[in-house]
Amino acid sequence: MSDGLTRGEFVSLVLRLAAATTISFFTMKVLMDALDPTKKQKLAAQKRAKQILNRLGISKDIKLNEYEMLIASQLVDPDSISVKFEDVAGLDQLIEELKQAVIVPIQKRDLFAQSSLMTAPKGVLLHGPPGCGKTMIAKATAREAGARFLNLDISSLTDKWYGESQKIAGAVFTLAEKLQPCIIFIDEIDSLLRVRDQHDHEATAMIKAQFMQLWDGLATDNKCTVVVMGATNRPKDVDKAILRRMPATFRVGLPTVQQRRAILTTVLRMEQTSDCVDIWRVAKLTEGFSGSDLRELCRVAALCRIYRLPSNQMENLGSNETQLPPITMEDLLGSLAKMRESKIECEGTIPRSFELD
Ligand SMILES: Nc1ncnc2c1ncn2[C@@H]1O[C@H](COP(=O)(O)OP(=O)(O)O)[C@@H](O)[C@H]1O
Ligand SMILES: [Mg+2]
Repeated sequence: MSDGLTRGEFVSLVLRLAAATTISFFTMKVLMDALDPTKKQKLAAQKRAKQILNRLGISKDIKLNEYEMLIASQLVDPDSISVKFEDVAGLDQLIEELKQAVIVPIQKRDLFAQSSLMTAPKGVLLHGPPGCGKTMIAKATAREAGARFLNLDISSLTDKWYGESQKIAGAVFTLAEKLQPCIIFIDEIDSLLRVRDQHDHEATAMIKAQFMQLWDGLATDNKCTVVVMGATNRPKDVDKAILRRMPATFRVGLPTVQQRRAILTTVLRMEQTSDCVDIWRVAKLTEGFSGSDLRELCRVAALCRIYRLPSNQMENLGSNETQLPPITMEDLLGSLAKMRESKIECEGTIPRSFELD
């Protein structure tokens, strides 16, 4: 070596240089990851989004930016939604109104575009106590209308990717426009867009303002079939500014006795029930029960029938020849007694805030 380095010294220099470069590279990587702790989540969301978009057959022609890809991971394919309107019992009138107000304008959007008055409402609010079918109705609506369904997780706007929230809120609407017809479903809409108070975080207020601005942008474009559908147990907690943007409002209340009968019949329709089962009587005995309470009642009753079997028969269950015994009235009443007990125990501790409206 001309400058006096021996061959050994040269090799060791190169090795040290390589080691230093490697260490700096990994140090930089660790630092970058620390600066962007959500990188992994983002990559996972993007991967999920790509799979969903592929399944929906919209990967090629529509170009999405990084933020739209994050939101796209919350897309639901209407074909994969299993809830149908037939599964929603006792709400025929509400469903009929929803069809006229929301579904037909989405399905026949080309025809309706000829008149600026005949468009789907930009906002629909479903409100009422929990467990009465709001989420079911929203899903069935997307399925029936053949619309893309964006099941928006509110926390993805506020917590996870804080700082970029505004870009993400913007992406919700630009994505929905690119994929229209699209229903943006926001469950518990009160939680993001709660009544403004002094504790309201500044950033949340900014997201809210931006959200509403983008939403208004939808309303001015006739050709754009994007509907924001919100559900809440606490309509009184929803910001007035939001309520104004949801002119189509549907109350999904606790079921009446006729509705309870319809729900019980629907929930039990695929089950073997014995002739002694008097659904009307069960419906009369379940005042104050929600649809999900009734489903739980039937679930527990379906299990009861196994536990009342003599132990020798119980052991045989699961082999091919044995059949499940039918659900009896006794199972249903037993399950009802259990549920009443636990309801009484809980009622004192659970705030009945859902009965605000
Ligand atoms: N009207 C109904 N008909 C049939 N099942 C119902 C009905 N309402 C509620 N359920 C049952 O209760 C569950 C919860 O309903 P969900 O739509 O999530 O209620 P909500 O969104 O109003 O809290 C459903 O998955 C379904 O099993
Ligand atoms: Mg729900």
